[in-house]
Amino acid sequence: MIEKMTLQPTTGLRGDIRPPGDKSISHRSVMIGAIAEGVTEIDNFLSGEDCLATIRAFENMGVRVDGIGTSSIRVHGAGLDGLQEPGDVLDMGNSGTSMRLISGILAGQPFYSVLTGDSSLRSRPMNRIAEPLRLMGAQVYGRKGDMAPLTIVGGSLNPISYKTHVASAQIKSCILLAGLFVDGETTVIEPAESRDHTERMLRGFGAEVISQDLERKVKGRPKMSGHKITVPGDISSAAYFLAAAVLCRDSEVVIRNVGINPTRAGLLEALKAMGAQISLENYREESGEPVADLYASSSQLKGADFSGGLIVRMLDEIPLLAMASTQADGETKIRDAAELRVKETDRIAATVSELRKLGAQIEELDDGMIIAGGSKLEGGECESHGDHRMAMSLAVAGLISGEGTTIHNVTCVNTSFPGFWEMLSSL
Ligand code: S3P
Repeated sequence: MIEKMTLQPTTGLRGDIRPPGDKSISHRSVMIGAIAEGVTEIDNFLSGEDCLATIRAFENMGVRVDGIGTSSIRVHGAGLDGLQEPGDVLDMGNSGTSMRLISGILAGQPFYSVLTGDSSLRSRPMNRIAEPLRLMGAQVYGRKGDMAPLTIVGGSLNPISYKTHVASAQIKSCILLAGLFVDGETTVIEPAESRDHTERMLRGFGAEVISQDLERKVKGRPKMSGHKITVPGDISSAAYFLAAAVLCRDSEVVIRNVGINPTRAGLLEALKAMGAQISLENYREESGEPVADLYASSSQLKGADFSGGLIVRMLDEIPLLAMASTQADGETKIRDAAELRVKETDRIAATVSELRKLGAQIEELDDGMIIAGGSKLEGGECESHGDHRMAMSLAVAGLISGEGTTIHNVTCVNTSFPGFWEMLSSL
C-alpha cells in the first residue's frame, strides 16, 4: 500500500504510452454482459478497484466471470431474468457508478438486495436515483436523504418519462437499465448531454435506444446477446499525461488508443482553447466508441472561461484543468460545476485548498473557481482527500512545482488507475 508519494520538478517528458481501459465503459460491459444472453468477452478491461466492485456484485448474484484481476475477462450472461438474490450486502467500495447503475438493474429484480460502500460513497446523494426508481414501482429505502446503505426490493416496473434535475450519466443510465425490465418504453430527459456510453453499449448488445436531442428512450425486454467488446483507453486517465506533456518544458508525449467520445472529450476542447498543442491521429472506432492517438507537447496556455455543457463533458478532469490554469497567462474561470461538490470528495473545496497549499492563487465559488494564471507552484505537502482524481492531478502539479511536492493518502489511485505511478516514471 502506497501512503504518500513525492514528485520532483521535471522537464523533458518523452514517451509513447497506452492508458488503461475506460472505467465507465468497463463497468457497463460487465453490467450489461451479466444480463445479456451468452458470453461477453471483454478486452482491455480496467482491473481497478471500482470495476472489481462491479464484478463482485454480479458474482454475488450468481454470474460467472472468468479472468478476474486481468484485462481480459469473460462474463457469462444470466439473461434478463437470471440474476439470483445476493446472500449478503453488496459492497460497492468507492464506486458511485457501481452503486447507481446496479441499482437500476436491481429495481427490475423480484428480490431483496442491500448496497453499501465506503464512507465517501455512503455520504453521496442517492435520492437522485431513488426518486425515479420509486416512480417506476421499485421499493427503495436509504438512510436520511436516501444515502447508502440502500435497500432495494424490485419487481414489476412501470414505464416512466423522467426529467433529471442534473446532467448525470449515472442517473440516466440507472433509469435506462431499469427500463430494460419494463414492458413498454422508458424515457429520460436531461438538462445537458452527459456521457452516452450506456446508450452506445445497449445498442451494441441489440437493445433499442432512441436518442433525440436531450431525450433517451429505451424499449423494455430487449433480446441482448453477449459478444466481444474491446474497451478504449480512458481519456480521464490519459488526461494526466496530456496535462503533464503540455505543462512540463521540452516535452513530447504520444498517448495511444484513447476514447474520444465527444460526450467525454471536453478536456481536449478546453486545453486547445487555452492554446495547448494537442493533435489527434489515427481515428478509428472500437466497439461503438470513437478512438484516436493523442500527440501532446509543451505549450504556453492562456486563461479562459468555461461553463455550460462543456463542463459536463469534462467533469472529472476539472481539478486537473484548474491546476493547469495556474500556469496560464491570465485568469481562468470555471462555472456551472456544482456537481463537483458531490463526487468522491467535494472537488471544488479540495482543489482550492490543495492548490493553495502549493502556492496557487485560487478563489472558491459555489459552482466553480477562479484561478489566477502565472502562479509559481512552489510545492510542499498536500493531501488527496482519498480521491483518486485529486491525487493524480496533484502528482502533475508536483512535476511543475519549484521544490517538489509530497502527496499524502495516494492508495486511492488504484480505484481507476493501478499502474499510474509506473506509467508516470516511464516518461
Ligand atoms: C460516470 C459519470 C459521471 C462521472 C463518473 C463516472 C459514469 O458521474 O463523474 O466518474 O460512468 O457514468 P455523474 O453521472 O454523477 O456526473
